[in-house]
Amino acid sequence: MTKSLILFGISNFLSDLFDCALALGYSIDAIVMNQPEVRRPRTKGVEERISPLPSPPRLIDLDDFVPGPGQECFLGTTSIRRDRLVKLIEERYALPFARLVHPTAYISPLASLGKGVFVGANSVVAPGARVEDFALINRSASLGHDSVLGPYARLQPGGTVGGHVTIGRGATVGIGATVIEEKVIGPGAMVAAGAVVIEDVEEGCMVAGVPGKVKSGPMNG
Ligand SMILES: CC(C)(COP(=O)(O)OP(=O)(O)OC[C@H]1O[C@@H](n2cnc3c(N)ncnc32)[C@H](O)[C@@H]1OP(=O)(O)O)[C@@H](O)C(=O)NCCC(=O)NCCS
Repeated sequence: MTKSLILFGISNFLSDLFDCALALGYSIDAIVMNQPEVRRPRTKGVEERISPLPSPPRLIDLDDFVPGPGQECFLGTTSIRRDRLVKLIEERYALPFARLVHPTAYISPLASLGKGVFVGANSVVAPGARVEDFALINRSASLGHDSVLGPYARLQPGGTVGGHVTIGRGATVGIGATVIEEKVIGPGAMVAAGAVVIEDVEEGCMVAGVPGKVKSGPMNG
């Protein structure tokens, strides 16, 4: 039987979400808009994104949404403040959050995944690793053994995280970045695309380059 999925919010990530949801046998019934769409010139709008779907979802304003039986939900936004939307969804509706793991991803049976987690195509979650609630692992990324991807954290395409690494709540490891083993990435920190992190990163800092150097944040204002 087809499973019904409701997405809350929109982002550039929608097409990957559709791809994964379809591969898992979901029908995407509605996209609930929690705020007006902000169009950027180099990206596709939501109407264009939904048009190739076999059965395009309805676009509904948050205040008009009424959940139906048997539905599951997922976040369509990847914003670093998506925790507020989760709180609102949990307060208003009794909708369970799906866990979207692309069929081509490898999740070790010795790893654990929280609720509302996304793991994209060709990604690996190694033994002993823990992916906490609402964390996101994009395409072709690797979370090393015994590492933790904290709640709302994001590991972007091609990112590689070594063993025993801790990535804090809401932190981001950008496209193609590497974090070597046993490092700690503080909450809300940003590892720039292509960086190689060889030292711990403090909360809220941005590091870039090879080796990674602090570019902004609490350390140097
Ligand atoms: C880290 C990032 C967010 C910084 O963006 P920003 O806040 O607009 O920063 P700026 O472009 O103003 O750059 C600030 C400094 O960091 C440097 N910098 C930024 N990104 C860098 C990178 N990937 N590698 C090396 N240096 C980088 C800039 O050259 C600049 O250095 P300077 O102060 O010495 O001149 C962005 O560059 C990035 O890497 N984003 C990740 C993208 C990603 O993973 N997307 C996922 C889509 S699926």
